[in-house]
Amino acid sequence: MTSALLQPIVILISGSGSNMEAIIRAQIQRDWRTKWGAEVTGVISNRADAQGLKKAAAHGVATAVVEHQQFENRVDFDQALADQIDRMAAQGQRPALVILAGFMRILTPAFVSRHAGRLLNIHPSLLPAFPGLHTHERALEAGCRFAGATVHEVTAELDHGHILEQAVVPVLATDDASTLAQRVLSQEHRIYPQAIEQWFDRSATEFNHR
Ligand code: GRF
Repeated sequence: MTSALLQPIVILISGSGSNMEAIIRAQIQRDWRTKWGAEVTGVISNRADAQGLKKAAAHGVATAVVEHQQFENRVDFDQALADQIDRMAAQGQRPALVILAGFMRILTPAFVSRHAGRLLNIHPSLLPAFPGLHTHERALEAGCRFAGATVHEVTAELDHGHILEQAVVPVLATDDASTLAQRVLSQEHRIYPQAIEQWFDRSATEFNHR
């Protein structure tokens, strides 16, 4: 199916941006533009030194920085972020999807409700286990035999929301937090693009049934 309507995707990052790059690669290799009109139109970081910004630019994707330190409070930061997201959604539309990919800021309920149903996150644990930080250390400390990653819809409660996709990664006797994190991350790169594709498939089906 070819869609004339552009469905802009805006990705928010804070660091290395490897999930972001996996999504951009999948978009190109699996031709999201032809399938759903979907395209990553912008990448925003809350840190100017995020390595992911260079990776996005190398793929020809527009980048912007909205530094949280420049704002007095979360409400003002989130408003500036929302404005930048809308600017990057092209043609004055709102984005079809806002993707959190290693974005290390807690968002206000107002920001979350503005993007309700269109805001996804990836978390490096098998939610609902281990929301929050240091997931791999905590999984090892608890003696978990399996770790993993979860793609979920974002709600006002941190690392909660409907689960869209998960990957299970066995914990090895030799693992430390860093080796486990690496194997989980390579699964993240597989399931995040997959969850986004399923999201567009579902939304196309819902649209066709309207
Ligand atoms: C990923 O493990 C993500 O799940 C977590 O932080 C890491 C970010 O990696 N929140 P990257 O920036 O996508 O490379």
